[in-house]
Amino acid sequence: MSRNLQLLVAVLALSMAAALGVLTAPEGHGDQAANPDPLPATRLEGTTPAHWRLVWHENPANEAFIGWSTAEKPVASAVYYDDLPRGGKIDEYRHRQSAVISKYTSKEALYCSTVELLKLKADTTYWFVMVSDEKASREFHFKTAPEGDTPFKLLYGGDSRSNRDSRREMNRRLRALLTDEPEILALAHGGDYVADGDKLEQWTEWMSDHELTVTAQGRMLPLIPARGNHETGSALFDEVFHNPGGKGLNYYATRIGSQFLLVNLNTEISAGGDQAEFLERVLKGHSTVRWQLANYHRPAYPAVKKPGSALKYWVPLFEKYDLDVALESDGHTYKRTCAIRDGKPDATGVTYIGEGGLGVKQRTPDAERWYFKGGKVGSSHHVQRLTVKADSLVIDTIADDGKLLDTWLAKPRATRND
Ligand SMILES: [Fe+2]
Repeated sequence: MSRNLQLLVAVLALSMAAALGVLTAPEGHGDQAANPDPLPATRLEGTTPAHWRLVWHENPANEAFIGWSTAEKPVASAVYYDDLPRGGKIDEYRHRQSAVISKYTSKEALYCSTVELLKLKADTTYWFVMVSDEKASREFHFKTAPEGDTPFKLLYGGDSRSNRDSRREMNRRLRALLTDEPEILALAHGGDYVADGDKLEQWTEWMSDHELTVTAQGRMLPLIPARGNHETGSALFDEVFHNPGGKGLNYYATRIGSQFLLVNLNTEISAGGDQAEFLERVLKGHSTVRWQLANYHRPAYPAVKKPGSALKYWVPLFEKYDLDVALESDGHTYKRTCAIRDGKPDATGVTYIGEGGLGVKQRTPDAERWYFKGGKVGSSHHVQRLTVKADSLVIDTIADDGKLLDTWLAKPRATRND
């Protein structure tokens, strides 16, 4: 049978199964009995959808990318979705979007299905099921970003590589936060997901552990990814996260609502040239947006190592356009600097917060560096929670046990109304 004919037969079979109502999401693929603990996440077998991740790029009010893995290559994969819960009954979902199916770049045989959901409604909860051939996931849901000036929360963290037990603990913490605070929209990740970004077995573990972030009710935590140095040149980074900002480039601006900008940058390619021009263009073009943040891996104001190229190429632009906060990873500590301008403390400057606590073993920071006077630094697994409102931006640093390690508050800059 030719490949095209095979595909047609599979799509027809799927449609018929859906029409007959026989294709219903099974219990156990990510439900409370199988996903949270202590059991491992969904088993990779046949075409059962596993390793789910929901990714946001530039326009999370209207677009989302859903990816999953299957052990065998499916003939057809799709997402069935709706703005009402349908209990996993495939024939009841009003929308269907086909997936692109590919093999991950690896000697291992593992397959990736990716669906682009476009033209979504803002500020709306979508329920969906992933289907590969005759296998379906349970029903999940997520919420799109708002369009207007609506308060929301966002999580930030980085460095989830190398220490799997700690990573899983942090994923449980993310899940607890998402469960308790439904106004959390997504997790911006500052890079270093795995120790070797070219090794699929490490991504397999990471994606499997990522399932732990899904709430018992099936809510997924969208991910806004930045590339870390352990993923330098990794094709798998782009395959797992659907080429954020373009394959190999991975710099892009995420708008959430009308008054929040997150510029995601890539410290693993040239920080100058095209990327610096992009950064300037974005900051200049959003000069009246109230809150402006950046997310990237190697710090300009590190707690452990030497500064990365962000210090030379990006910090002058951050200061010129009055960025509020730069979110940094890579150091394996938590930190908050004082506000910095022209290489010295200045209340009008930029604050740098990070720096990598989603599971990797923590290091001892150099607390004596001048920019930590009036800031905070320490060693603990952690995640940052951003509470974004019209009159304030609060960034809390939360430990793996839920303890509050640091809290910081900013008021909107007067310069935004120019
Ligand atoms: Fe790193």
